Formats: sequence, C-alpha cells, structure tokens
Amino acid sequence: MTLAVGSPLDQAAPVPSGRAAAPRPAGDGDAVLRRQRSRESSARTYARSFPIVPVRAHGMTVEGADGRRYLDCLSGAGTLALGHNHPVVLEALRRTLDSGAPLHILDLATAEKDDFTNALFDTLPTGFADRARIHFCGPAGTDAVEAALKLMQTATGRRGVLAFTGAYHGMTAGALAATGNVAVKEPLPTAGEVTRLPYPYPYRCPFGVGGERGAELSAVYTERLLDDPSGGVVAPAAMIVEAVQGEGGAVPAPDGWLREMRRITAERSIPLIVDEVQTGVGRTGAMWAVQHSGIVPDAMVLSKAIGGSLPLAVVVYRDDYDGWLPGAHTGTFRGNTLAMAAGAATLRFVAAEGLAERAAAVGARITSRLTALRTELPVIGDVRGRGLMIGVELVDPAGEPDACGALPPAPELAVRVRAGCLERGLIVELGGRHDTVVRLLPPLTISDEQADAVLDRLTDAIAAAASTPAGTASGTAATAGQGRA
Ligand SMILES: Cc1ncc(COP(=O)(O)O)c(C=O)c1O
Repeated sequence: MTLAVGSPLDQAAPVPSGRAAAPRPAGDGDAVLRRQRSRESSARTYARSFPIVPVRAHGMTVEGADGRRYLDCLSGAGTLALGHNHPVVLEALRRTLDSGAPLHILDLATAEKDDFTNALFDTLPTGFADRARIHFCGPAGTDAVEAALKLMQTATGRRGVLAFTGAYHGMTAGALAATGNVAVKEPLPTAGEVTRLPYPYPYRCPFGVGGERGAELSAVYTERLLDDPSGGVVAPAAMIVEAVQGEGGAVPAPDGWLREMRRITAERSIPLIVDEVQTGVGRTGAMWAVQHSGIVPDAMVLSKAIGGSLPLAVVVYRDDYDGWLPGAHTGTFRGNTLAMAAGAATLRFVAAEGLAERAAAVGARITSRLTALRTELPVIGDVRGRGLMIGVELVDPAGEPDACGALPPAPELAVRVRAGCLERGLIVELGGRHDTVVRLLPPLTISDEQADAVLDRLTDAIAAAASTPAGTASGTAATAGQGRA
C-alpha cells in the first residue's frame, strides 16, 4: 500500500499575503542537488539520506522544491520543539527585529539575554536553579560540552573524564573524546583521558544479561572500578552522561541507575555533568530529562531546542564550580539576540502549554503501537524511548540471537526503511549501533492525526522493506557509521 502524499495533514501553511515568499532555488531542485553534490564536502550527512531541497516548512511539514510534502520526524536533529516556523517563535523574532536590538553583541548584557536567562532559570529543576550560574558558549552543543568539561577540570584540578558506551557529545576534541562511536573518531584517535563505562542498554546488554540486572551491574562495575587502586582510573574531573542517549539509539537510562550515578559521583566528589542537548525542553516527557529521576546534577549542557530553531548553547552549573578566570571559555558568537528571543518564547510556550506532558502521552501511544507490531513484523527487534524520543531497532530475524535474545543488526534493511519512509512522505533518520535504529523526534506539537500518519507510513515502509530482497535501496546512499548531530 502506498499512502498518498500531500493530504491535508501535510499541508504547509500558505505564505501570508504582503510578505515575500522564500527564494526559490535557482534552477530546479535536481540542479540544486547536483551542485550540492559537486561542491559540498563528502562529510555531508543528512543531505545524503534526504535528497530533497526544502523550500518551505511549517509545523511538522516540510515542502520540497518539487512540491512534495513530508512529515518531519527529524526536527533539525531534535532542535525544533515547536516544529518549523511556529507562530510564537516567528512573533518573537519579528518583535526583536522591529525593536532595533543589536543582533550580535558578543557576551554583553542585553534585555533579550536577561529575559532568556529568566525564562530558562524558571524551568530548571528545583535545587539546581537557585544556585545556578550560566555561561553562554559558541552556538553549538559541542562547544557547551567543551566548556562543561573545562569548567570541571579547572574546578577539580584533574583531567580525566568518565563517559559511556553509546554516548554522543559532539565533534570538537574533548566532546569527541567523550563520544562512543568509533567511526567518527577515525582515522586519528582523539586525545583525551576518557574512561569508558557501560551504559545500560537492555536489548544489547554490555554484560550479556539484559533487563534491570544489566543496569545494576553497570552501577556495581562503575563503583568498584573507581575504588580499585589498580583499576587504572586516576581521579577524574567529571562524569558526563545523557539521561536518554539520542544518537546512541534512543536508549533511556533507568531512573534508578541515574540516581546511582549521582550517588557514586557525589560520594567521590566527582562533578556530574548531564548532557541535555537533545533531551531538554520537554522532549522526553519532562521539561528536563533529569527530572524523571529527581537527581540534581552539578552541570547541565543545553543547546538545540533552547534556541527556538536558532543556534544557542549554554552550560549551567552550580555556582561553587565557578573558578574560571575572565575569558576562560570565550568565543565570538555568544550573543545571538534572535536565538535568545526565540528560545525564551519557546521555553515559556512549552511550559505554559504543558507540552512535556503532551510529549509523554503521545510518545507512550506511538511506542505502544510500534511495540504491538513486533509480532507482525519480526524485523522490529526492539522499540524504546521516552516521550518523543523514540527508537525502533531493526534486526535480521533469520540471524542467531545473542545471549539476551537480541538478533543481529540489519543496517542495509534500515537504509531501505529510511528511503521507503521518504518515498511515503516521512522524514526519519537512523542512529544507534550499526545505524539500525529508526529514530522518531517529531515536534512536541504533533497532533494525534499526524502521529497516526507517521505510524502508518513507518509501518508500511518497514513492511515493504522487510518483504523486498536486499540490495534494492533507492534514492539514498548508506551513511552507516557516520556521525550526525
Ligand atoms: C547529547 C548531545 N550532545 C551534544 C551534541 C552536539 O551538539 P552540536 O551538534 O550542536 O554540536 C549532540 C548533537 O546531536 C547531542 O545529541
């Protein structure tokens, strides 16, 4: 069954009269794509998976130069909490533009920055907000990760970092060292004293036991390793962790395990940095993912959705870590006024409209419908996630199961599913080990009708790919093992 593309669900909003339409690409979309292929770096990523030229976008809908419309479950890699061009964001941007405020002003104080900081601090977990300091970083999550690591190295006088299997923290040196994915570190290993610890992952359990026992063993191993005088771990400057691994394949950490990490680090005076770059702003069904477990971290790294579609990244930390000298972590683009205005409006809207709760409810519905499909479609090995951060792990049902019953990954099938989704008007990206996890990151504003359409298109694409012989991927190149953010 091929579903119609361009139904009312997919409609992009008309361009309001009196306002200029977005510039149309010179030549047709195919010409633009040809020029991109010949001029841009071979490290380009999403552009390989989605050979489309978006010209307009509204809410969950992206319209290509060829007039086709797509439901966007990638949302700018989890950035667009309110979808594309939400009226609240546009209004904040127009108001700021009309006000004559400076658009770029380094790290000087502005009314917009003050307002953004108020909006952000209002949403932060209790016990953290009251003693929080904020540092505005270069406008990418990776720079805020660098800042957090450096802050804790300065505060503790130590160098090493504890990071987890499957972690993704960014592409700059320190963040890349903390990242788990080996493919993006090659050919040159990055410097950095990182001790890799096992992240709980019930389906492909690092201890080969699965379930809650895997998480228990991870905590026991972490604690014993840190206390072993011959364990090879010099007292570290920090532990950095994601409460739900995003690029690692939508793997949520159990709340109890996260509380154990907090206890273990607190008892050994190791600062705990929680990387909420992807999980923040309602995505996981709470404003901040740490709120599910109730832990209070020493630092939180925030980016993506906090800029309301525009680039913004900050590290927020407990004031007693603030041992930096002036200029200790500088950067030119730390005063993006428009991002602060859009970000403040987004944070307030998410809180006022209860969108985190909405993400929890819709996410649970999508996850349970996908889980129910596993008997019908045995290529679905696992369905998991939290809120609207959902992963569907694709496997080879004919393969040998491992000790926990996990079937071998099916990367080639996953590429065909992604291509099949695109053909059916659905943008989904892959992630996780071997790039076999279909990741759903729709905006928090997704309607029930749109959620149903996503499920129908995805189910149809998986069923079609599962019944088609291997080697028939259409339209897209495999990007297995490549880093994306
Ligand atoms: C958890 C996490 N941390 C850090 C980053 C890096 O952010 P950026 O790509 O903006 O540098 C990402 C990007 O996906 C991420 O998911």
